[in-house]
Amino acid sequence: MSKSVRLLAGAVLAIVAATVVLLPLQSPAQQIAARETAKKPPKLGLGRVALPEEIAAWDTDVRADGQGLPPGKGSVKQGDEIFQAQCAACHGEFGQGVGRWPVLAGGLDTLKADRPDKTVGSFWPDLSTVFDYIKRAMPYGNAQSLSNDEVYALTAYLLSMNDIVKDGNFELNDKNFTSIKMPNAAAFFDDDRETSEKQFWGKEPCMKNCRSAPKVTGRAISVDVTPDSKAGPKVD
Ligand code: HEC
Repeated sequence: MSKSVRLLAGAVLAIVAATVVLLPLQSPAQQIAARETAKKPPKLGLGRVALPEEIAAWDTDVRADGQGLPPGKGSVKQGDEIFQAQCAACHGEFGQGVGRWPVLAGGLDTLKADRPDKTVGSFWPDLSTVFDYIKRAMPYGNAQSLSNDEVYALTAYLLSMNDIVKDGNFELNDKNFTSIKMPNAAAFFDDDRETSEKQFWGKEPCMKNCRSAPKVTGRAISVDVTPDSKAGPKVD
């Protein structure tokens, strides 16, 4: 250790020691008060309180239980028209995907395959995500340009393309929305490892000295796993 490093280490120790000695001098109430003061953000004098309209513009999330759904409605037929005009250029007339743009329909029964086709129909567990996603992010490049009725119609059309809704005259609205069940919904559930995998767990998991030191029974070099450099291929 050089002299300056030793000096520095000494100084750090001195500060730590001073802190340790100082802290107990404060009563618990004083300590809490000190922490509260430390937490208070400094006033920067910037910005203003957000307007209710501004908060509403961000607060558009729709939850699985339907919370957040705006009033509105749209039919499969209306959705078909909007989809062909604003979505098909990328996603294909039937949601099959053009080129490498995302596929939105089909793929049912492929989830256990080596290359599963995860589409809105085959994979997504909740219809609310479809509504929320389209409303928030599509059409790509012109996001948040769709009215609520148009998003209901497009969601209805996606249900029809995926054969989740069979009636071509079906109309989706904020009242019947949560009655639609997605085919893969049951595959999403809360983490149940505590019960489903309990049999694999030891009651008292070993935390130290769990096994004796490993015994070396052979060396790679003696079983010729690693070719020795003299016998290895020549590199010019
Ligand atoms: C210019 C091309 C384009 C257009 C037009 C377009 N999309 Fe998309 N869409 C995309 C891309 C790219 C993604 C993937 C974005 C990502 O993963 O970040 C996507 C993703 C999606 C997804 C989610 C797919 C998934 O499985 O993750 C849905 C649903 C969707 N689009 C619906 C629509 C609808 C409805 C319209 C018409 C209103 C539309 N899109 C128009 C390019 C497009």
